[in-house]
Amino acid sequence: MRGNFGKTLTLAAALALTTSLARADDVEVLHWWTSGGEAAALGVLKDDLKTKGIGWVDMPVAGGGGEAAMTAVRARVTAGNPPTAVQMLGFDIQDWAAEGALANLDDVATAEGWDAVIPAALQRFSKYDGHWIAAPVNVHSTNWVWISKSALDAAGGKAPETWDELVAVLDSMKANGITPLAHGGQPWQDATMFDGVMLSLGGEFYKAAMVDLDPAALGGEKMAEAFTRLMKLRTYFDDNFSGRDWNLASAMVINGEAGMQMMGDWAKGEFIKAGKVPGTDFVCIRFPGTQGSVTFNSDQFAMFTVASEGAKAAQAAMASAIESPVFQSAFNVVKGSVPARTDVPDTAFDDCGKKGIKDLAEASAAGTLYGSAAHGHAAPAAVKNALYDVVTAAVNGEYATGADAATALAAAVAAAQ
Ligand code: BGC
Repeated sequence: MRGNFGKTLTLAAALALTTSLARADDVEVLHWWTSGGEAAALGVLKDDLKTKGIGWVDMPVAGGGGEAAMTAVRARVTAGNPPTAVQMLGFDIQDWAAEGALANLDDVATAEGWDAVIPAALQRFSKYDGHWIAAPVNVHSTNWVWISKSALDAAGGKAPETWDELVAVLDSMKANGITPLAHGGQPWQDATMFDGVMLSLGGEFYKAAMVDLDPAALGGEKMAEAFTRLMKLRTYFDDNFSGRDWNLASAMVINGEAGMQMMGDWAKGEFIKAGKVPGTDFVCIRFPGTQGSVTFNSDQFAMFTVASEGAKAAQAAMASAIESPVFQSAFNVVKGSVPARTDVPDTAFDDCGKKGIKDLAEASAAGTLYGSAAHGHAAPAAVKNALYDVVTAAVNGEYATGADAATALAAAVAAAQ
């Protein structure tokens, strides 16, 4: 009896050990890359890890800006079962690091010389207290407009460079019988559009309001004008914009139903996935009036503290794979973003990607590179959420004037701090 019981236990223990060893070498990855273009980019990462013997357990939580994903992470951590790696943006990474929940990636970062090739603007989020706690995958930026080439040709053919030119093109698209502006009414999408609108009123204003949280800039005349512009843009949406996913808005431009979309360069991933070619099928421009400036966000993989050696090894291997220059090129070509390293050649990128790489380097050198407010790179989550609330209320017609909206924003941001 005794002997048999002992045997059973041994078998159970062996089974548990085998299971935990098998799991240890996999990475469970929580992310919000669920659209066609995003899934294609994710495939590049999965395949790359597979060649290195690292298995993948998928944990997708849809929703740009990562709000829903961050709620899911919080639940997992509270339950004492954090995922191995989590797609994360800006201040969210810093918040988790401050809670002591993230693993230290210094060994791999030092061995591979990340300090020298990852720009300071990204390191500000990938490091906490001098230690690497996240591996940046890319740099996206939000002040882009994606225009259907045929719709633009029908509207005179000249890409708008100023606010007035933008309004003229939108008017002529409307007259041509298409939806001028494809948009999905979700708070993070409204706020993404608003990044570009604010930046079109000047980089210094953008920084004062969104980064420095200066009450005078938040509630002042330029902010009132930004909201007035947003309310004007709202008049070019179709009737069904409310709640629409961003990739369905991209599809409206891709299939000729709409003229343009104001969205980060993950939208380019959708165009590319649909076989569309920049310059031929679509045109990418910076939000009119923001040429020379960039509002960026960087997807990074934060690694949570894990106990087993096998899981730690898998995290280090994943971090190393992500920072490889070859991977950086292959992944970002598909994703629509640009590399997180400064030493990756632009050879494999299409014209929009080449422009993205050049714009980023120039803005960085000129001091006109700003964190995206909509995507958690300008201020912590509480402020970002306050911005979402007011911007969405403005899109939904809750304020009589831009000045009313600006006053509401200043109050909401003050309350959030
Ligand atoms: C992420 C992108 C993603 C987009 C839409 C952004 O917050 O940085 O990688 O494609 O959301 O899901």
